[in-house]
Amino acid sequence: MCGIVGVTGNPNAVEILLNGLEQLEYRGYDSAGIYVNDQKGDDYLVKEKGRIADLRAEVSADVHGSTGIGHTRWATHGVPSKENAHPHVSNDKRFYLVHNGGIGNFTELKETYLQDVTLVSETDTEVIVQLVAKFAREGLSTKEAFKKVLGLVDESSSYAFLLLDREDPDTLYVAKNKSPLLIGVGDGFNVVCSDDLAMLKETHDFIELVDGEIVILKPTSITIEDPAGQVVDRKPFHVDTDPAQAQKGAYPFYMLKEIDEQPGVMRNLIKEYIAEDGSIKIDADLLKAMADSDRIYIVAAGTSYHAGLVGKELFEKLIQVPTEVHVASEFAYNPPLLSAKPFFIFLSQSGETADSRQVLTQVNQAGYPSLTITNVMNSTLSREATYTLLLYAGPEIAVASTKAYTGQIALEAILAKALGVYKQIATIKDFDVAAELTKAANGMQELVDEKGKIEKIAADMLKDTRNAFYIGRTMDYAIVQEAALKLKEVSYIQTEGFASGELKHGTIALIQENTPVVAIITDKKTANHTRSNAQEVKARGANVLYIVSRDLATPTDQIVLPEITPLLSALVAIVPTQLLAYYASIQRGYDVDKPRNLAKSVTVE
Ligand code: F6R
Repeated sequence: MCGIVGVTGNPNAVEILLNGLEQLEYRGYDSAGIYVNDQKGDDYLVKEKGRIADLRAEVSADVHGSTGIGHTRWATHGVPSKENAHPHVSNDKRFYLVHNGGIGNFTELKETYLQDVTLVSETDTEVIVQLVAKFAREGLSTKEAFKKVLGLVDESSSYAFLLLDREDPDTLYVAKNKSPLLIGVGDGFNVVCSDDLAMLKETHDFIELVDGEIVILKPTSITIEDPAGQVVDRKPFHVDTDPAQAQKGAYPFYMLKEIDEQPGVMRNLIKEYIAEDGSIKIDADLLKAMADSDRIYIVAAGTSYHAGLVGKELFEKLIQVPTEVHVASEFAYNPPLLSAKPFFIFLSQSGETADSRQVLTQVNQAGYPSLTITNVMNSTLSREATYTLLLYAGPEIAVASTKAYTGQIALEAILAKALGVYKQIATIKDFDVAAELTKAANGMQELVDEKGKIEKIAADMLKDTRNAFYIGRTMDYAIVQEAALKLKEVSYIQTEGFASGELKHGTIALIQENTPVVAIITDKKTANHTRSNAQEVKARGANVLYIVSRDLATPTDQIVLPEITPLLSALVAIVPTQLLAYYASIQRGYDVDKPRNLAKSVTVE
């Protein structure tokens, strides 16, 4: 989704903004822009549809300044275009604004206050900057005008705003509600960003902001005010991430790098959560809160939701805790009847997904305990849940999630083990989670080492097809849903992940000569059933690929999975499907890291 950067007090502002926007490219965008002021009264507003490279090409050598704001836009209100790109500027050319999020009542605000103002874009953001200018013209100071506008924005809105007044050009006015935003503390200068990765070259010390606060940011001062106007004192937190971790290195694409990093993610999780003696290093308060509950509700979106489906199996099969998994955007507006003592787990790589946050807000209002499992320290979902467990997967840059999915499953397994021990479930001692995750790491390594084979299968099966199917039963049904999402989102092949027993109830009508069908078989109970279903589609012309656990494999199965406990088969079975998606995308000529229409962190509902 949209990205925001800002800087005040650094003569290198143009490069800091452009570099920051480049670091945010992975989040998905369709246009970008920067505004800088050179303090001598000269303004530079440069916007471009397309890539940051196009914007960079437009920025001539005479564009310079020490304060500025920048933005990558993922279109919501109005098509991707230069006019709709941010920063937006008031008609009197005094105020410049960038915005992440959406203003629910912008049409009403426009009709009520701006009847006499001609707007040049279709965006909700322009309404905000024109309103600030109007109230300033009526005599309010910039801060008062900004606060007045924030007060007019309705409840449904979300925003991260950076406002610059060219009459006071080294001051940035910053505000946020629901959309992520951080202040970065520099030496003699300060920065703002929607994602710390954007500013790691400038600083590793960041201050989080809370909804409703506004910040007056100057080169050597940071004043945070709460909604009542009281000054808030908040210390920065330190981010250890090495900016190099967020680079591709020798890899052609982040997605391939991140697929390859999965064995390392398993080992990191073992190191962070499992002691030498096998005991699990998870806060006893968290385990007590879970043990006191009568049902776990896992809430998530997309790939994280699919990791939740595997989590349900782990919590129910290993420790007999009833568990439901819900799509966040559905739960928020159509919640199920809850049990008497629910415990909520939010799975979110980014920790910023608006749909999940909407549910967490309701959960907090109801006073229920919650845990966020996330890859991003101090992210919104992490700050707002009762407990947090981190994935330690390193930055995930490719839009399509890979290592976060396997990391989430591994951490769910560690949590299930810890809870089983806490609840003294006798059978949990048979589940040696460190040994299983080590097996997973080794198995993943075996599979990523077989890339050439999978690249060839992708070329044979997927290069020219219009559609494809993944099929499986029980745990394999959970896995095929993720495998199908991965393939469709990066290759644009219309792909369905299907419970193979359901095929005959309608979907088999879509099978034609050469339709690709991938059968995943890791569950002994249903292996023969899935094989029969695969035979049925084969008899109707399908081109079938079998991905099968070693103990269930036959000599003709094309991909045989290394051994692992069936409850964790997703950790290895998903790897060849991630590689199939990656190669299908490349072979069809797409930018696999930035699939069309998608954003890395979905911060609007
Ligand atoms: C797909 C993908 C998305 C995310 C979803 C939730 O590859 O990455 O489906 O899983 O947008 O995002 P997080 O996990 O950040 O809450």
